[in-house]
Amino acid sequence: MDLKIENKRVVYPFSVGIDSETGMMDDYDVHIERWLKDITKMFYDENAAIKYLNKHGNIKIYEVYEKGIPEIDGEVRFCSSITYPGKIGDEYFMTKGHFHSRPDTAELYYCIRGHGYMLMERENGDYVIEEMYPGRAVYVPGYYAHRSINIGDEPLISLPVYPGDAGHDYGTIEQKGFKHLVVDKDGKPSIIVNPYYKE
Ligand code: F6R
Ligand code: ZN
Repeated sequence: MDLKIENKRVVYPFSVGIDSETGMMDDYDVHIERWLKDITKMFYDENAAIKYLNKHGNIKIYEVYEKGIPEIDGEVRFCSSITYPGKIGDEYFMTKGHFHSRPDTAELYYCIRGHGYMLMERENGDYVIEEMYPGRAVYVPGYYAHRSINIGDEPLISLPVYPGDAGHDYGTIEQKGFKHLVVDKDGKPSIIVNPYYKE
């Protein structure tokens, strides 16, 4: 059988290690870090984010390690997604979240460490939240924007797996936000409607 070739690169069989304590991949092509300074606008209480920066300085909110698998139909992309524990105001640290550019594509997250929620929300605001903890797999169907939220006190580490041609649409969430947010209320995670959500 022919090997697939993308950007003059042949995809050979391979395996990779993911450290279950740190989430680090022992062999990766891409490493993305998201620091508070770069994503202050993703938190609904932007003033709280600015106050945090002034008081404590910059902090890493989450990071991703991934292999450079071609973004084409038939491939399966995966990564290690690590969201750190903490809060900005009353909102837990979370990923930016996105729809897939090919909106019908689904995704499976397998949780390796920590305690969190997967927020899944459709464009009409309908939402579902599933709990993430070690050994738990969350299925994110197509047409749902998705965001990992760390509600615990250790890193939330998961292995997301998704179709090669899914792509990422960050713009919709950057403009509108999620309609629902997870915040700490009296020490417990609670779901609120985003006061700044743009219908
Ligand atoms: C891929 C996917 C995950 C996220 C990762 C970081 O489709 O959903 O691999 O990319 O958890 O979150 P974002 O992409 O929202 O910054
Ligand atoms: Zn995704």
